[in-house]
Amino acid sequence: MEIVVLPTAEDIARAAADRIENLVKSRPDAVLGLATGSSPLPLYKELGRRHAEEGLSFAQARAFLLDEYVGLAPDHPEAYRNVIRREFVSLVDINEDSVKSPSGTADDITAACAEYEKAMQAAGGVDIQILGIGTDGHIAFNEPASALTSRTRITTLTEQTREDNARFFDSIDDVPMHVVTQGLGTIMESKEIVLIATGANKAEAVAQLVEGPVSAFWPATVLQNHQHITVFADEAAGADLKLLSYYDHMYRNRPEA
Ligand code: GLP
Repeated sequence: MEIVVLPTAEDIARAAADRIENLVKSRPDAVLGLATGSSPLPLYKELGRRHAEEGLSFAQARAFLLDEYVGLAPDHPEAYRNVIRREFVSLVDINEDSVKSPSGTADDITAACAEYEKAMQAAGGVDIQILGIGTDGHIAFNEPASALTSRTRITTLTEQTREDNARFFDSIDDVPMHVVTQGLGTIMESKEIVLIATGANKAEAVAQLVEGPVSAFWPATVLQNHQHITVFADEAAGADLKLLSYYDHMYRNRPEA
């Protein structure tokens, strides 16, 4: 794992945007893995700025979303498909038909999950996966006790996550109980991962992610087994890392590729 602790969310957005820009310039039809939540928003804004001011193009890029609430009306503003349309697709020139998301409204959700996995494979897999992390260590919607090999499926949110996400709804009662999410095994197949964590409420999850034992109790710890992952944290989110000064030393003195 490469651990990069930077002062602000904007610094992280620029560093993460460099990764995406390099990929899309070398491979215009790259497959992006898009995450919702507030952590990636400065990154999407920065990519939008590079598109508008510097001509960075996503015209041939393709994308897959990580997860979706079950049962929200297709036009609900918090349905993740609509969040991504608003926060990323509308800022760049990606073709909306090339942005796929798991269905939270299919009659047969299990069959739709299997189709989603097939579509990801047919696209050649995700080239770069953007991730946030939940305060309980979930990634996408893989809550504690998710199998480390899990695939795209319907699952149940913890009360903690429903409380955390209640800020996007009128009340916690409006936060769906069920979601469809790519599994930990699915996410592990992406070729590169960029995880973004900001704010003091993520400090414990980041410390577990980087320094804890690999355990389904902290689902993000499975990422310790990924070959090419960068964890970007701001100082508040990185505050509980025991080896913080060593990660900083490694980052500043990294060998040139
Ligand atoms: C939701 C999403 C996750 C995201 C998490 C953290 O649960 N399903 O993909 O990482 O929220 O969100 P935030 O970045 O807003 O803290």
